[in-house]
Amino acid sequence: MAIWCTLFLTFFFCYPFIFKLTYRLIFYYILFYSSCTMLSYLSCCPLSNCLLLCTNRQVKFLVCLTYFGIKCFLIPAFSLRLGISDICGWMDKPKCVRWAFFFLLIFMFFFILWITERTPGTYRMIPPPHQAPYTCPFQISERSITPLNNTKHLLVSAYMDQRVNGLDVRIIGIFKRDSIQKLHCVFCCAGKLSSTTPGTILQHSDNFGFPYVTTDVMCQIPQNCNATHVNLLTQPGKDRLVDQPWLPVRNKRSNGKEKEKLQFNFTVCISNLFGDYNNVLQFAQTLEMYRLLGVDRVVIYNTTCGPDLDRLLQIYSEEGFVEMVPWPIDQHLNPSPGWLFSQSGGDVHYFGQLTTLNECIYRSMDRSRYVLLNDIDEIIMPYKHNNLTSLMDVLQQQHPNTGVYLIQNNLFPTKHFEPSGRFHLPQWNGVPGVNILEHIYREDPDSQSYHPHKMIVQPRLVEWTSVHEVLKSSGQQLKVPMDVCRVIHVRVSLRGSLTLKQLNEDKRLWDFQEKLIPSVDKALRRAGLLPS
Ligand SMILES: *[C@@H]1O[C@H](CO)[C@@H](O)[C@H](O)[C@H]1NC(C)=O
Ligand SMILES: *[C@@H]1O[C@H](CO)[C@@H](O)[C@H](O)[C@H]1NC(C)=O
Ligand SMILES: *[C@@H]1O[C@H](CO)[C@@H](O)[C@H](O)[C@H]1NC(C)=O
Ligand SMILES: *[C@@H]1O[C@H](CO)[C@@H](O)[C@H](O)[C@H]1NC(C)=O
Ligand SMILES: *[C@@H]1O[C@H](CO)[C@@H](O)[C@H](O)[C@H]1NC(C)=O
Repeated sequence: MAIWCTLFLTFFFCYPFIFKLTYRLIFYYILFYSSCTMLSYLSCCPLSNCLLLCTNRQVKFLVCLTYFGIKCFLIPAFSLRLGISDICGWMDKPKCVRWAFFFLLIFMFFFILWITERTPGTYRMIPPPHQAPYTCPFQISERSITPLNNTKHLLVSAYMDQRVNGLDVRIIGIFKRDSIQKLHCVFCCAGKLSSTTPGTILQHSDNFGFPYVTTDVMCQIPQNCNATHVNLLTQPGKDRLVDQPWLPVRNKRSNGKEKEKLQFNFTVCISNLFGDYNNVLQFAQTLEMYRLLGVDRVVIYNTTCGPDLDRLLQIYSEEGFVEMVPWPIDQHLNPSPGWLFSQSGGDVHYFGQLTTLNECIYRSMDRSRYVLLNDIDEIIMPYKHNNLTSLMDVLQQQHPNTGVYLIQNNLFPTKHFEPSGRFHLPQWNGVPGVNILEHIYREDPDSQSYHPHKMIVQPRLVEWTSVHEVLKSSGQQLKVPMDVCRVIHVRVSLRGSLTLKQLNEDKRLWDFQEKLIPSVDKALRRAGLLPS
């Protein structure tokens, strides 16, 4: 481009007097080139953006078009008449030559000034064109749901995921299915804006008919970029100012860290708390039961909850056993309280449950050996082992290539109470919610209908998950026999016609009562739900 500048200038000036004034050509070439070069350094304007502009017949300007239109340098080059009649006339005017020398001197002055200010080490003739002259990120998203500007989509989080060849980062989002367009990834590379790379948009296969679906955008990181944050653009232009919040890139393993000990053995992912759910007693019992079984962390996505449950969860999350993730999906969409669009309408399945389950898998990928996907009124209970650790040690040994363990769900209807009342404890009378120790009658799964499983998964082998099954994974799946492990699900019966005789007595929870009751009391007391 510098050559074009020069050629342009050459013909512009010399054509009429090419034979007579070669020395002047050299003079103007130097004048123009040095001013352009100087401008390019002063304003971060590449040489190729330097134009000689004729604004009128008298005055010319050197115009430096910079990247963002922020800095626009107008430098009067020299005054010169261009008319045909003046072609040779100007030579006779020593004034013109004096002008030219005057500007040359000014340029040289600035040039020298600039040289002295720059350290020699950073001296470069042409700044790399893809390197923007500002740092990023301007604004980091602190929220768990970030709307994507100029689209109807929502972004949730970004995770490093190099399991697919050529792709590096997975951005989990909730996309409107009928308006999915091309997107371009842009990275913040330790403070510097990268060039854009095309995003690969993957809609999850489960949407249950709803207009919004969990969607991943896969991005490739440009070379030599230490990606700290990522963003998506609807236009590929690298020059566009990124005026929306950046997502931090999580799960950035540092080299060779993979073998390092994981922080947790078992993480339970609970999605999603909404409405004024205030089933405190069952919640506290379930959390303490998880703890006895060896769970290290419970992740809960919270849209809203009842007042007593809120207090209990504040205590658990201060202590670190529970990790609360705010999930204000109702501020962005009309979330459905049901699982099927044709039944309940709305924008997205069950307050975005499919998105939160996937988010939780990726959140746990680098820190937890196993992830349990179940609801808060469900306990994945080993029936032959004391805890999940010994259960999984045995299962993993017997089935070394298995990544997904399917556990049969068993309902314990709340309408049937254990007759002795020995766990109808007086201190729990004032605590709202179900007492799971009082419900010991188990329904057999309805063999006529689809009976869902809940899951224990190895997160690093899972790519997409749904509620009762994994949609994309690299390991094998195993249906764990019911005498080894079941889900204890204490809730209102779905098969109310069954009589007590048709149910099975199952007192497995009682095996833990000695430790369970004092821990539940302690938790309730700390939340101010029991008198101390
Ligand atoms: C990448 O950037 C992060 C944060 O700026 C820094 O801690 C890390 O050491 C960098 N990694 C490499 C490989 O440069
Ligand atoms: C993009 O979103 C940010 C906040 O999320 C807002 O400040 C900005 O004005 C938006 N830009 C456009 C072009 O809508
Ligand atoms: C995980 O389980 C192993 C034994 O399987 C144990 O050595 C380790 O301490 C456990 N880690 C945590 C965080 O509990
Ligand atoms: C759950 O979300 C609601 C609504 O934002 C909030 O008022 C409440 O404090 C949250 N509870 C916890 C335990 O984070
Ligand atoms: C799990 O049970 C085994 C066998 O009963 C026991 O040795 C181990 O300490 C238990 N682990 C935890 C974390 O409770």
